[in-house]
Amino acid sequence: MPTCLVCNHAVTEFISFGRMPIANGFLTPAQFAAEYTFELRVGFCPACSMVQLLEQPDREMMFHENYAYFSSISTRMAAHFKEFAQSVMRDYLRRDDPFVVELGSNDGIMLHNFADAKIRHLGIEPSANVAEAARKRGVNTVCEFFDQDLARRILEEHGPADAILAANVMCHIPYLHSVAAGMEILLSDTGVVQFEDPYLGDIVEKTSYDQIYDEHAFYFSVASVERLFAEHGLEVVDAIPQNVHGGSMRYVIARKGAYPVSQAVTRQKAKEEALGLKDLETYHRFRRNVEASRDALMETLNRLKAEGQRVVGYGATSKSTTVTMYCGITPEHVEFISDTTPTKQGKFSPGAHIPVRPYDAFKARYPDVALLFAWNHGEEIMDKETAFREAGGKWLVYVPTVEIL
Ligand code: SAH
Ligand code: TYD
Ligand code: ZN
Repeated sequence: MPTCLVCNHAVTEFISFGRMPIANGFLTPAQFAAEYTFELRVGFCPACSMVQLLEQPDREMMFHENYAYFSSISTRMAAHFKEFAQSVMRDYLRRDDPFVVELGSNDGIMLHNFADAKIRHLGIEPSANVAEAARKRGVNTVCEFFDQDLARRILEEHGPADAILAANVMCHIPYLHSVAAGMEILLSDTGVVQFEDPYLGDIVEKTSYDQIYDEHAFYFSVASVERLFAEHGLEVVDAIPQNVHGGSMRYVIARKGAYPVSQAVTRQKAKEEALGLKDLETYHRFRRNVEASRDALMETLNRLKAEGQRVVGYGATSKSTTVTMYCGITPEHVEFISDTTPTKQGKFSPGAHIPVRPYDAFKARYPDVALLFAWNHGEEIMDKETAFREAGGKWLVYVPTVEIL
């Protein structure tokens, strides 16, 4: 019986996707034979209600000097993080010479806003290539994994932090207690932690099972996050839904008693109860919805193939690795995947080995149907692809339901 990474209670498995490669591990044909795989299985802890992976590859296999994800590739996300940074500056950086720390700062998409405003800041980013991209734009960055030990060293060198920020990285870290303890060490008395990640409520409601892959060790709810931080003398004082990445939640966390707790926290927890996020049966229903989604997508792709229609993938997301591998999508169904990230281009998608080509390949000869793997950036993408529509192109989406638009 696997045990909970947060509370050590026995965890109940509710879905298995089979063997999966590293979701961001785009590769060359020479690397196909030795491609690493692991068992992608997800469980629910009835004691602390944390949804979590039962097995995760070693962190160095996922985060290294060739990390494929460059955050700044999305202009909408850049705007989102600018707003995030501005709200932190406005509400929490009133003391003289404040200090801001960000975990998983990637290419500096958020912190450059603080650097530009001449605010003391430090990014913690273990993937050397993206850390270097951040340094190049003037963002102070240490290339290490955040944990309790690093928190102590940062405190010694820089003093306490007024804000500790993290986006789409807390859910990546299996040793969450060390992270929470480190935050408690580093935080000033009135400081706040603000982090956001894809929200479990949205994943369940939208059947967005493609959020499940190696990097995402946890699928958070307000209840599970509150329970975790309480062990470290910290409390959730606000929970603010975000419409990025298909539905995220931003948690504002402070020392117990330092700030009033917003009613939004109580309200969101009540919603979670109503949605059944604390009931195992909800996750069994989720599994049945995932299976139905897979069947509907393959039926559509097989029909398009039989009709001789050209289908191309849009956005070589890490999420798409779960979709292609779990559903059985091959280069027979999807000719190639178009992606704007230079390091992914010319390589092949993990596991399914679908070629990844530059955006120009999409533009040069529009397919009949574009399979929108980057559905979470759907608005940004559809806004700029009006010419594809006008040329008769159609979008195939699968979240929340399989549909041709
Ligand atoms: N915050 C950015 C990047 C998210 S991707 C955004 O929202 O777009 C997750 C990032 O976290 C990667 O760059 C990865 O290298 C980094 N990371 C992984 N484990 C980490 C850890 N223990 N501490 C700090 N960063 C970590
Ligand atoms: P994203 O959905 O942000 O993340 P993840 O890898 O965590 O699932 O990835 C978006 C991918 O889509 C990224 O590789 C860049 C690509 N992309 C495009 O090719 N064109 C676009 O217009 C956008 C917004 C993204
Ligand atoms: Zn637990």
